[in-house]
Amino acid sequence: MMLHIPGVLTREQVSEMRQALDAEAWTDGLDTAGAQAVQSKRNLQLPPASPLSQRLGQIVADALSRQALFVSAALPHRILPPMFNRYEGGGHYGNHVDGAVHRHPLSGEQVRTDVSTTVFLSDPDEYDGGELVVEDVYGTHEVKLPAGDAIVYPATSLHRVEPVTRGARVASFLWTQSMVKDDWRRSMLFDLDMAIMNLRRQLGDTREIVSLTSHYHNLLRQWADL
Ligand code: NI
Repeated sequence: MMLHIPGVLTREQVSEMRQALDAEAWTDGLDTAGAQAVQSKRNLQLPPASPLSQRLGQIVADALSRQALFVSAALPHRILPPMFNRYEGGGHYGNHVDGAVHRHPLSGEQVRTDVSTTVFLSDPDEYDGGELVVEDVYGTHEVKLPAGDAIVYPATSLHRVEPVTRGARVASFLWTQSMVKDDWRRSMLFDLDMAIMNLRRQLGDTREIVSLTSHYHNLLRQWADL
C-alpha cells in the first residue's frame, strides 16, 4: 500500500528546516551505501550523527507520530531516526531495495525495515526530475509531492529517485519496523480502520461499530509481533 499524507510539516517548519539544511555541510551519500548501492547512488546526505540531523530528525519523527493516518498505515513498533538527503546536478539513485535490518544508532537494537517514508522538503517547482518511482504489484508509481507532505510505502518494494536536472531536491526519509510486517495484512487493517472511523462519524458508536472495532483489535492481536 502506498499512502500520501499531506501537511505532515507546516510551511513554517519546512522553511526553518530548509534554512538550517541549506547552510549545512553535506557529505557524499556513498559513505552509507551498501555494495549494491555503490553502483547506482549519487546524492548528498547529512551525517546522521550530526546534531542538526538529530534535532531535525526528531521534529520529523514527532510530526509523523502525531498523524493518525501514519499510525494507522504503518502501525509503528520502532522508528529509526529520520535522515536527510539532497539530490542536485544530475544526482539520482537507481533501482534498489532498502536493507532489511538497520541498527538503531542510539539504542543499538536491530530494527527491521518494513515501511519506508519520505517527507518532501522541496516544493515540486524548485526542481526538475527527482521523482520517487516505486514499483509494486500494482505497477509503477511516480511520486513528487509538495514540501511538508509524506509518502509511505512498503520497504519491500523496488524504488529509485530519477536524476535531478535543475534545482535541488531535499527530503527526509526514515524506516519503521511495523507491529505487522506483512504489507497485505497491514493494508487490510488500514482499510478496516478507515471504514470504522467513517462509520463512527456517520452513525456514532452503534453496537455493530463496537463489534467491528473489537474485530479490528482481535486481528491486530493475532498479527502483531512485538
Ligand atoms: Ni531506498
